Amino acid sequence: MLHAENVSLETIAREVGTPTYVYSAASIRSQYEALSGAMAAALPADRQPLICYACKANSALAVLTLLKNLGSAIETVSEGELRRALKAGFSPDNIVCEGVGKSAAEIKLGLEAGIHQFNIESLGELALINQIAQSLGKTATVVFRLNPDVAGGGVEKISTGQKHNKFGLSFDLVMAGYEQAKTMNHVEAVGIFTHVGSQVWQTETFEILFKRLAEATTQLRAAGHTVSRIDIGGGFPIQYKDEKLLDLNAYARWVRDIILPLDVEIVLEPGRYLVGNAGVLLSEVLYEKESHGRNFLILDAGMNDLIRPALYEAYHGIEPIANRSTPEKTYDVAGPICETSDMFATDRSLPTMSAGDLLVFKSAGAYGYVMSSNYNTHSLPAEVLVDGDNYTVITPRQDIEELIARDVIPDWLHD
Ligand SMILES: Cc1ncc(COP(=O)(O)O)c(C=O)c1O
Repeated sequence: MLHAENVSLETIAREVGTPTYVYSAASIRSQYEALSGAMAAALPADRQPLICYACKANSALAVLTLLKNLGSAIETVSEGELRRALKAGFSPDNIVCEGVGKSAAEIKLGLEAGIHQFNIESLGELALINQIAQSLGKTATVVFRLNPDVAGGGVEKISTGQKHNKFGLSFDLVMAGYEQAKTMNHVEAVGIFTHVGSQVWQTETFEILFKRLAEATTQLRAAGHTVSRIDIGGGFPIQYKDEKLLDLNAYARWVRDIILPLDVEIVLEPGRYLVGNAGVLLSEVLYEKESHGRNFLILDAGMNDLIRPALYEAYHGIEPIANRSTPEKTYDVAGPICETSDMFATDRSLPTMSAGDLLVFKSAGAYGYVMSSNYNTHSLPAEVLVDGDNYTVITPRQDIEELIARDVIPDWLHD
């Protein structure tokens, strides 16, 4: 019988229902400690990076609070995430605002709170931040997102640092941004930022990237600009199947050998690494059916709950929570949604299962719940956090009637 820490998943399914995301607090703690520990071992005590958890990966307030208590800072990419960060009690000094389309409301909120930095994605954004900061009588600290034209990331759809990607600015535009910032009274440009993708298993990518950042720093300084902070992004891979993992100590050594000598404050933005392997999506088999010689398992979880397989053809391990040694059978595993792409796996060899059995999708702690939707008017799933013997529903399952009640039928449509 599968457990999350000391709690049986069967108990959670019975008491909370399915589909439900279940996260292990111990696993999140140990991931955070592995990363901060690798940095502590490689870098001097007074030069430790600001680890800003990229909360797009999993923004449940309980998860944010857990990470904050471990000493993590946070990175947000929307007004909503910024509001979550503030609500979870992160000190504004520990909040970094990123996002390729920051709204005026988000910028204003960040300025009023006094966040650590805005990551600038366009020169229009720089001008808007200066204008809003002026109206509030504040000065915004900014770093420019460099698009280094470096490929990285598990698949093309989560690669962000190549020249055809929408993210960041070419080096010329970073230089132009610095020049413009000099003429603005309400922004202070202090450095550069880059993030080339997620699930970056090509470990040497980081070395190439750090060297680009060092070159850019030298050129910017030669032009008389201040580079006192470098944000080296996230992208640390986790294992879904058999991916090569990043050697954290090698990564930390590149930071030490390439970034540290630049004498800058270092910022990191890991998301998936801290929470991805800490979570599963718990689901029930609704039906088993055979058609045209194929065996389908139809689940109560669908692409609306976990979209990664449909969106990125991502692989998630699937395991029944009980009867795990029944003879293997080859299945196509599908959700209940009326979409052909609502398929989690094809030709997957699994222990024989039948209606009523419970199973989990592994490594579902990152980019799972946060990407869920109401497609086909399904309610959003519940989220549960386990710690040792205890568990708490940290996000109750959405109520379908409440969801429908949000709709408005115009008076003029009534008979
Ligand atoms: C700007 C930025 N920072 C950090 C992250 C976190 O990436 P990961 O979850 O791969 O660490 C992302 C993810 O897309 C991102 O876009």
